[in-house]
Amino acid sequence: MLVADLGTPAGRQLVASTLTARTIDLLVNNAGFGVYATVAETDPEVLDAMVQLNVLAVVQLTRAALPGMLQRRAGTVINVASGLAFDPTPTRATYSGTKAFVVNFTRAVHEEVRDQGVRLQALIPGLIRTEFHDHSGTDVDTVPASWLMNPADLAGASLTGLELGEVVCVPALLDTEQVATALRRQSDLTQTLVTNGAPADRYLPSAR
Ligand SMILES: NC(=O)c1ccc[n+]([C@@H]2O[C@H](COP(=O)([O-])OP(=O)(O)OC[C@H]3O[C@@H](n4cnc5c(N)ncnc54)[C@H](OP(=O)(O)O)[C@@H]3O)[C@@H](O)[C@H]2O)c1
Repeated sequence: MLVADLGTPAGRQLVASTLTARTIDLLVNNAGFGVYATVAETDPEVLDAMVQLNVLAVVQLTRAALPGMLQRRAGTVINVASGLAFDPTPTRATYSGTKAFVVNFTRAVHEEVRDQGVRLQALIPGLIRTEFHDHSGTDVDTVPASWLMNPADLAGASLTGLELGEVVCVPALLDTEQVATALRRQSDLTQTLVTNGAPADRYLPSAR
């Protein structure tokens, strides 16, 4: 077993060099945490630690595992995101931002390697029954028990999602078309703005 603090450059480097040296079939970037408070009231070091773990570790460990996977034309990377990736809620600003990063990063890298035998999945948990809530400051006892998913069910759904070819896997959603539509709308927005080199009329001095 390799023990490392992925919140530090040294810890990430240790794991990254191990990933590079070994044959890796499946990398699950699961480590992550959230502290729920306004940005102005959160210790800057906590915000920094969230970005280091939730973002930098995902990027650096994915980058370390990919060359070997591409060489063997086989391998899977599952990056654990969150439903908050789609919901920039007050008191969740940094956590939500890091998880939105995970989704976009994973989707883009998947497109980069999809024809080379390597798969990526962004896993989107809702509320999962873990110790996460002790750290985030959420009182899950006030939440109906039926809202909480068991970690084993989430993990099983993620693996089934891989078989189904789901790049963005949302086990709690009944309708996968809801995911596809939401993601398509985001892409449509970018396509629309990138093809117009002039500000819209409402920004013209004459409109003010
Ligand atoms: N629980 C939820 O409702 C929920 C919802 C959406 C997304 N998520 C995401 O799911 C993932 C797993 O969280 P969880 O719910 O299982 O929370 P958890 O019970 O608090 O577990 C967090 C995991 O991350 C590891 N970890 C934390 N800091 C680390 C560090 N600096 N270096 C290395 N490992 C570290 C922990 O290892 P140790 O135990 O060794 O400290 C533990 O295995 C996270 O990415 C989280 O953001 C959770």
